[in-house]
Amino acid sequence: MLVGIILVFLVTLGLPSVAATCNVNSQSITRVIGYYDSSAVSRPCAAMMPYFFPQGIYSHIYFASGSIHPDTFEVIPSAERDKKLYTYLSALYMRDLGQELWLSIGGWAFSSHGAPTATTFSDLAAADINQQNVFFRSLSRFMHTYHFVGVDIDWQYPVAAGRAEDYVNYPKFLANLKAVLDEYKFGLSITLPTSDHYLQHFDLAAIEPSVDWFNFMTYDLHGTGQIGDEWTGAINAHTNLTEIRNSLNLLWHRNIPPFKVNMGISFHGRSYTLSDPSCTEPGCPFLSGGDAGECSMSAGTLFNSEINRRIHQDNLIPTLDSTAAIKTLTFPTDQWLSYDDEDTFKLKADFAKSQCLGGVFVRSVDEDDRNHTFSKGLMAALGNELNLDLKTGLTKVAFNEKSTTAGSRSQSSQNQYCRFANCGAACPNGFTEVVRADEPEQIMQDSMGGSAASEQTRTLCCPTSGKVPTCQWRGALETGGCTGGCNSDEAEVGTSIAGCTSGYQSACCSITKSTEPWAQCKWSQTCQSDDTCPSGYNHFVVGSRRGSGGRQSCNGEEHYNYCCSGSSVPDIFSKCEWTTRSNGDDCSGSCPADSVRVAGQSVFLSGTESGCSFGSEVYCCSGGKVPNTHTPVSAVHKEQTAEEFRGYLQQFLANPVIPEGWADRVVERL
Ligand SMILES: *[C@@H]1O[C@H](CO)[C@@H](O)[C@H](O)[C@H]1NC(C)=O
Ligand SMILES: *[C@@H]1O[C@H](CO)[C@@H](O)[C@H](O)[C@H]1NC(C)=O
Repeated sequence: MLVGIILVFLVTLGLPSVAATCNVNSQSITRVIGYYDSSAVSRPCAAMMPYFFPQGIYSHIYFASGSIHPDTFEVIPSAERDKKLYTYLSALYMRDLGQELWLSIGGWAFSSHGAPTATTFSDLAAADINQQNVFFRSLSRFMHTYHFVGVDIDWQYPVAAGRAEDYVNYPKFLANLKAVLDEYKFGLSITLPTSDHYLQHFDLAAIEPSVDWFNFMTYDLHGTGQIGDEWTGAINAHTNLTEIRNSLNLLWHRNIPPFKVNMGISFHGRSYTLSDPSCTEPGCPFLSGGDAGECSMSAGTLFNSEINRRIHQDNLIPTLDSTAAIKTLTFPTDQWLSYDDEDTFKLKADFAKSQCLGGVFVRSVDEDDRNHTFSKGLMAALGNELNLDLKTGLTKVAFNEKSTTAGSRSQSSQNQYCRFANCGAACPNGFTEVVRADEPEQIMQDSMGGSAASEQTRTLCCPTSGKVPTCQWRGALETGGCTGGCNSDEAEVGTSIAGCTSGYQSACCSITKSTEPWAQCKWSQTCQSDDTCPSGYNHFVVGSRRGSGGRQSCNGEEHYNYCCSGSSVPDIFSKCEWTTRSNGDDCSGSCPADSVRVAGQSVFLSGTESGCSFGSEVYCCSGGKVPNTHTPVSAVHKEQTAEEFRGYLQQFLANPVIPEGWADRVVERL
């Protein structure tokens, strides 16, 4: 009734304030994000290793948190051991088909006063594009290496814990970031506070186009310690549907589309030590945060696992407040606690559906008990089924197929063909690694420059929708020299100089539907100064000094030519572009998702800030019928030989290590 009057009042004022309404019974929420907090492994009790993450419930896992080096802006793990956790979590996609692993960067402690990174987000958002590029490049490398497909910027909070200029800088920074992530179809989300005190400092209209969704932190609204509200001295539930409703209106006033909003749910409660144990209502005074839990080890916070145990041990009877959608407990005499369970999840889930919200997120899944009581409770409250066939142990419907909104990766005709993945990347969904026919213990991989580090290795991936070809490396001789090339009934899908003192090896596969176009095309045996193709292969595709990337470099302006036989260039090699990365080694060149790398070479880049630098560029084809509009001759490498060697010399004098791929060219000249 009261709400109705307020709405009418706002409408008559002409504010675009009315929330969309959806039918609770027909609306479903399939974007269910679970944060995993790295502290989960180091707790004295109630620890949750990544492989105990519940199966069949979450469409996304968010790892909390990644960090940023405050001086260089490079993305770094918050702790060395986190690298192991990424690996465990990324392996989970094998059982939860279509589940996505995202990296959440920042968090409360990251920007809190006194932390070495206290001003890092402000600095980064204010930095010029060259400095931001350092962050973007290292982020993209980091994501490829550890198999993240989205990033969450958890800045708590611009302006309030930063500088006034954050208001204008943050949207610009996010737009730059989104442009880079789009190249790989990586996702982007940010966290938002619910209190207008903090939210007013976000230029939401300017930010909205850049993000896939907002994680609206509708928990920890009140409490003691590092909590986002002013000190009131009175107890208050840490989450409260009345307040959530009001805060969501702040978003609707700013025209944020509801499908971009995820409602936050905490798997912890907030507790107080009461001043007067007989006064236990919201508004009553408190002395301090509640006693720390033995597992949470933080005053004022109890994990749901700890709360549940206490309820069962001490036969506690919680009170349900169905207006606020919260349960409260008073125990043994002076501790007062608010928390959520399946009953209050249901009230919130129905409300989220009625507001047409796109998703929910849990912070954090590791605060649950071993039986996943609360993850399962949330799933039931949402009306979702366990996405798991208990007989086979497999996912029933791939998570990314269930969710029709943003974030699901598009299908492309390129997905019919084998290709080497980007350095460090796993084969995408729908693809498999290929066992080496000559070394059945190993899979087909290309160790760039012979380095065994996984981030320097490219894996051959073939679609599982058709017959997987038989593949092997050919050309290594006992002498250490190599003579590349495949048999006539094979397709060459890549080359590598790893393990070769001269020449190169070829990745050769039997001809199947997935390798057919590769069989139709080949690289010229020798370096060419023009577009001359090998005889019988009349259609020129691209020229590259290092062929597919793994050949000894041609001199100066010469290049190997990739050419195709048949009536035209196969579709897979159309819609191609050179992409350049500066300061890179061979592995810094990555192709966007759903595209195929055909050629790669190192380049000399002039005109950068530092005067000169080396980089790499890759030629990526996204396929389809549209003919090439871009010139297949590298845009960067033109008549630069003299300048190139001057650049090389400068670099060598600064750091006497010969850049990979240049050694042979230099030796020839000396
Ligand atoms: C929920 O919020 C409303 C409005 O701020 C407040 O009046 C009420 O006491 C709160 N309920 C609880 C349980 O904290
Ligand atoms: C988990 O479930 C089992 C079997 O239902 C029960 O005996 C056990 O107490 C539960 N453990 C927790 C931590 O809830």
